[in-house]
Amino acid sequence: MSDGYIVEMSNITKTFPGVRALDNVSFHLKAGQVMALLGENGAGKSTLMKILSGVYTRDSGSMKIFGKDIEGDLNPKSAAELGVAIIHQELNMCNHLTVAENIFLGKELHHRGLLNKKEMMDRANAILQKLKIDIKADAVVGSLAVGQQQMVEIAKALESDAKVLIMDEPTSALTSKEIEELFRIIREVKADGCGVVYISHRLEELQHIVDEVTIMRDGKYITEGIFKSIPMNEIISNMVGREIKEQFPTIDIERGELALQVKNLNAGRLVRDVNFEAYRGEILGIAGLMGAGRTETTRAIFGVDPKTSGEIILDGKSLTINKPMDAIRAGIVLAPEDRKHDGLCVKLSIRENIALANLDQICSKGGLVNRNKERTIVEKAVSDLEIKLPNAEVNASNLSGGNQQKVVVAKWLANNSKVIIFDEPTRGIDVAAKVEIYNIMNELKREGIVVIFVSSELPEILGISDRIIVMCDGKVTGSLITKDTNQEEILSYATRFEKKID
Ligand SMILES: Nc1ncnc2c1ncn2[C@@H]1O[C@H](COP(=O)(O)OP(=O)(O)OP(=O)(O)O)[C@@H](O)[C@H]1O
Ligand SMILES: [Mg+2]
Repeated sequence: MSDGYIVEMSNITKTFPGVRALDNVSFHLKAGQVMALLGENGAGKSTLMKILSGVYTRDSGSMKIFGKDIEGDLNPKSAAELGVAIIHQELNMCNHLTVAENIFLGKELHHRGLLNKKEMMDRANAILQKLKIDIKADAVVGSLAVGQQQMVEIAKALESDAKVLIMDEPTSALTSKEIEELFRIIREVKADGCGVVYISHRLEELQHIVDEVTIMRDGKYITEGIFKSIPMNEIISNMVGREIKEQFPTIDIERGELALQVKNLNAGRLVRDVNFEAYRGEILGIAGLMGAGRTETTRAIFGVDPKTSGEIILDGKSLTINKPMDAIRAGIVLAPEDRKHDGLCVKLSIRENIALANLDQICSKGGLVNRNKERTIVEKAVSDLEIKLPNAEVNASNLSGGNQQKVVVAKWLANNSKVIIFDEPTRGIDVAAKVEIYNIMNELKREGIVVIFVSSELPEILGISDRIIVMCDGKVTGSLITKDTNQEEILSYATRFEKKID
């Protein structure tokens, strides 16, 4: 191995129909090193790592893993045998199986022709214990929190002796506690001599975990170096290709009239007597820890989940919302958190996804689609948010993660809505696109639309909202004016659990 590299990728090129995803990219990783792989949405990070882990094959270029030339194509199995494991951007667990079954999925242990369940259970428990992960191997994965599922993915990778561990946006759905836990495990893995590739759009977390960075832009290698020696604004400008002046742009306008009132809303277990108000021309942040009931509240307002009681009043008029169509007709829309399940039809094209949300404008009364109108709306949405795609006919599933998220946001913008609820709109989105989304929220605010902004990232919620309500365990525990509050105060409301009697 030259210079202690365990991965050497040189001049890697990969083309998808209409897209050159990778153009002569180089990438290097050493043992015991955490390398951040950074770049905007669609830069090619996931594609490069999918090539390293055998999910995709390269068109050209050379690869060495542990000094061994990889002549032909890898597949996931042969890559795993070489010690490369990847934890994908979207988790890939079988929810109905146990932790042990997931860990040994595809490499089940046998004894005399039968599954050796006991040994799999024992070995799964052993690796969980080694990593000090407090999960039992016989737990059903579907019953675990996302953060715990992520830990199981890591345990799975390490059980198969991975020496190169690729994590594609591991923290995008984790609570701050879970992130700390993840970092602890990464440090242990690193101390064991494993090389870790760390992909993330949460730039503020890099300082806690990363040794070096490799930066890509538009499918090309840009630069690499020691993280601490490159100032953050330089990292950002290398990713984006220009300066970003204001990470949290705001506009100062006078708040308008009271528009939305949510009264004594109850739904399921996580929406308990929720009350709040929102005004025209303001961005109302909803903060809270994962599982606080924020998403459930937005779903109940939008009519996705049934309410058990409560009233939703818009401009003084009490609304009957039993399904999303009722909400959309009344002028309330939701850009949901889970883009894969709720936000997008991944099997449809981008054009169809955007058009579906705007049928009222695109269709004539007789139901005929006005193609010109459709094209105008779709083109505007794509250019407003700078969604990177070869053309609007590609399936949503082929876009990079962040660009999918932009489509979720974009599709509602052409709609004449009065209230737009954004649930974690910037999750997985790069730094430049975040600013674009904040600018869009500001524009909506200027137009007098009520913007509701659910986010788990305190810096952005403090940076963008005018007021913030905080939820904990299904209840609103605090209502704060942004300029008079700070992270600590929000966190104290976010952890205000009622004492429970078992
Ligand atoms: N299976 C595919 N078919 C067609 N195009 C694809 C496919 N996978 C990726 N692409 C395209 O390749 C480019 C690089 O995508 P990739 O997913 O690697 O980006 P990324 O850097 O991981 O972005 P993000 O931060 O948004 O996850 C994008 O233009 C994307 O649309
Ligand atoms: Mg990606």
